[in-house]
Amino acid sequence: MPTELPRYRQPVLPIEERIADLLARLTLEEKIDQLHQCGVGDTNPNNLAARADEFRPTYGSFILNGAEPDLALRNALQRRCVEESRLGIPAIFGCDVIHGYRAILPIPLAQACAWDPELLRRQCALAARLARAHGVDWTFAPMVDHCVDPRWGRVAETFGESAWASSVHAVAAVRGYQGDTPGGPDSIAACLKHFAGYGASEGGRDYSFTAVPDQQLWEDHLPPFAAGVAAGALTVMSSFNDLNGVPTTAHRRLLTDVLRTRWGFDGLVVSDWNGVLQLLNQGFAADESEAAQRALLAGVDLNMADGLYRAHLPALVRAGAVPPAAIDEAVRRVLRVKFRLGLFERPYVEPSALSGAAPTPAHLALCHEAALRSAVLLKNDAATLPLRTVRRVALIGPLAEDGAALLGSWAQQGRADETPTIAAALRERLPAGTELVVAPGCTIDGAGTAGFSAALAAVAAADAVIVCAGEAATMSGENASRTSLRLPGVQEELLLRVAAAAQGKPLALVLITGRPVELERVEPVYPAILAGWQLGSAAGAALADLLLGRAAPSGRLAITWPRTSGQIPLYHHERPRARRGREGEYQDAATTPHFAFGHGLGYTTFRHGPIRLSAGEVAAAGTVTAEIEVENTGDREGRETVLWFIHDPAASRTRPLRELRNFESAVIPAGGRRIFRWEIVPARDCSFPDEDGRRILEPGEIIVGVGGQRVSLRVV
Ligand code: GLC
Repeated sequence: MPTELPRYRQPVLPIEERIADLLARLTLEEKIDQLHQCGVGDTNPNNLAARADEFRPTYGSFILNGAEPDLALRNALQRRCVEESRLGIPAIFGCDVIHGYRAILPIPLAQACAWDPELLRRQCALAARLARAHGVDWTFAPMVDHCVDPRWGRVAETFGESAWASSVHAVAAVRGYQGDTPGGPDSIAACLKHFAGYGASEGGRDYSFTAVPDQQLWEDHLPPFAAGVAAGALTVMSSFNDLNGVPTTAHRRLLTDVLRTRWGFDGLVVSDWNGVLQLLNQGFAADESEAAQRALLAGVDLNMADGLYRAHLPALVRAGAVPPAAIDEAVRRVLRVKFRLGLFERPYVEPSALSGAAPTPAHLALCHEAALRSAVLLKNDAATLPLRTVRRVALIGPLAEDGAALLGSWAQQGRADETPTIAAALRERLPAGTELVVAPGCTIDGAGTAGFSAALAAVAAADAVIVCAGEAATMSGENASRTSLRLPGVQEELLLRVAAAAQGKPLALVLITGRPVELERVEPVYPAILAGWQLGSAAGAALADLLLGRAAPSGRLAITWPRTSGQIPLYHHERPRARRGREGEYQDAATTPHFAFGHGLGYTTFRHGPIRLSAGEVAAAGTVTAEIEVENTGDREGRETVLWFIHDPAASRTRPLRELRNFESAVIPAGGRRIFRWEIVPARDCSFPDEDGRRILEPGEIIVGVGGQRVSLRVV
């Protein structure tokens, strides 16, 4: 008679019963090992990697870092955890899959410029499927930090400056990664990061102090996390920053009172890399033991990399400084995620056709679709783009033949040698007989100008000129803060010289960047400017298609594009100044952005009809429908995105001049019309939080706007 399996091994039992049974069997050391996450392999190239020199089969988790996780290694480590430990608890394997796995997608800032949550969900689902095939159980994504300071390199990883849009994208990403039922073959656990306020790093300097008033915390920083928790995200990562004097790694009000008590989150919280140890650097712990105690008691369950939990929690528990119940609660959450992912039943990932394989045409087709939708046409005077057929095209700039830069930050599973450059893609697409002459002119950040002459000669001999300028992948992402948004090196000088030499010829600038860059001197002399961001594996192909008119740009900026770094912070949801008119504006520069939040052009034109409201007033518990008809007045189909804003002109908290509250994107055929509708629900769409996050809905006027139009609605 086979002996009955222990209750924690019986999948028919409720997860909470299985957890209780297993918890009762664990020793203190085994429990604390479950709270340790061990790094395996290299990490972000900007940071020093702390390697895992030792292994224990009772460890709770491993991070699969490095170019590409090794499925065999992952399964071998898992087999040791399952077979060599006393109770056979599987580990959970995490990895930074931030915008695609091997088939690299646009950086999140670019993904947000497509204004298409379903497209984002599909992208995250593809990333999950490919990551799962390489042994990843858990991605440290989506990053939903709020940032209005593009000097901070991680702005590239955000979904832009709108808390509302980031909330919508957070939900789409969680659904994409986790699928409808976490634990499925193509599902990996999502991780909402970095909780919270990290994007407010002073001066854009990474890992720094963040002064975030409670009002702003609830207005801008917390909503995407709340939305992601409500969408069922299984994990949350605390952040590196010191939030108003309390580092979030030990911020009990955030990690327990808000996240768990108010929002009901019952998954696990993981610290960021060495985040517990860094409490000493931040002056929030006198020694490693105190750091471990503070983080655990605040609500960090899993200790990433530094090992302080393993080193100090046993003694802290024995000394009565950490209650055993606190350890049990942290272990319960880690086990809950493992049970929900089905790791006890399916601890190993069977190799499949996707394991170790190059992206398929279908994978690259999605990368291409996403890239096309994420690029933003900032300027297109005299219909310079799409380029007409010419005999000779000069392709200038250090980004013309750089595949690695197209992938952007956090793309370690991508391969530059698999990423066609812009030059290669143009060569493939330009009609026979059209010559492409490529001249880099300079390097991305070098001081040398020796290449200028060859570039200018190529311009002189060409009938049309395309310039590709911007940043290397390591100039944004983590630990990539910059004091200025100016193009690196001597690129701006090259661009100005090229523009002068290209007088009268079709001239277009393509920007490959992880952030907005200063164009004050460049924009006036470039008739066409395309923000190409870092669009991933299909970036070259997509940009070539857009330049040649095989597809039309449709992206809209999810972030304000400043004229100069001196304007930062500059964002669309600013509060009204105390003085009306121009008082308070800069004396030495314009106060307006170079390109506004929501800006973006295409290859057709649209005419907006008037905003119509189904009623002029709405009861607090009622609804009212706003609609606007949009006509495609051009000669080719185009995609229009309608962004709906509100403004509350008189409230018990000052309100932004524009708050994004709804958006919709749709293709309209040439000559066609489409009505965009928004059902306004006052409690959801016209309310705002107070400094403790309580939603306030006040009667009175609400201005509803699209583009330059404004209509008045009264909430009664
Ligand atoms: C890094 C990043 C975080 C990442 C983690 C694991 O330092 O801050 O976003 O997920 O460590 O690599």
